Amino acid sequence: MEKELLLEVSDIQKSYQITKQNNLRVLKGVHLKIYAGEIVAIVGKSGAGKSTLLHILGTLDRPDSGKYIFRGSDVFSYSDKQLADFRSKKIGFIFQFHHLLPEFTAQENVLIPTMIAGKKNVVEVNRILEDVGITDRAHHKPSEISGGEAQRVAIARALVNSPDLILADEPTGNLDTENADAVINLIFSLREKYNQTYLIVTHNEEFAQRCDRIIKISDGIII
Ligand SMILES: Nc1ncnc2c1ncn2[C@@H]1O[C@H](COP(=O)(O)OP(=O)(O)OP(=O)(O)O)[C@@H](O)[C@H]1O
Ligand SMILES: [Mg+2]
Repeated sequence: MEKELLLEVSDIQKSYQITKQNNLRVLKGVHLKIYAGEIVAIVGKSGAGKSTLLHILGTLDRPDSGKYIFRGSDVFSYSDKQLADFRSKKIGFIFQFHHLLPEFTAQENVLIPTMIAGKKNVVEVNRILEDVGITDRAHHKPSEISGGEAQRVAIARALVNSPDLILADEPTGNLDTENADAVINLIFSLREKYNQTYLIVTHNEEFAQRCDRIIKISDGIII
């Protein structure tokens, strides 16, 4: 079967201005193709630019130069407003720390992105909470659930708008082995069910090995 191209970036460059004279070149020409339905691990040393690349792919940040084609569209030609709309509908984010809003319940935390996308949908929220095994904790606040449960709520939040692409930055980095394994297994079972595409930055070698493909960043390029 022909693989469907989800996104392609070419010659992505990104520097950070450290001082007036000093520029830190982080991405020095990244080329990358991601196909629909893949789970791809991104690995590399600390400081290699993994989070920087993920931010650019998530359109949270613009590169200095380079092209980004997502399902045939040139995303960096979008206005900031179009980009925000694209981001809220097409991309889900999972971070190392769950970043749930402390004053809201698990269910409300997952509901918020549906409201931002203009399609508030409690039925869908409850369904995705069931997928991640949080139904009986849905009305608790983040401080009243465990770290592993909070991360599963964060996964539900990332998936609730049915994004095409889920970007995860060390999603198991803050969890013990047991909870990390639960999160990893969950991601694979969600992929089976929804056939979404995952790009996962991880320092967990076992996790990386289970992915369909491993991409390594070194010295600002993909090797
Ligand atoms: N906003 C910023 N301003 C200046 N420098 C930055 C900024 N963000 C990142 N950097 C620098 O860019 C380099 C790449 O950072 P990045 O966060 O992408 O690394 P990483 O591969 O995700 O590392 P880690 O595995 O530790 O998370 C680092 O040297 C970092 O200090
Ligand atoms: Mg990082």
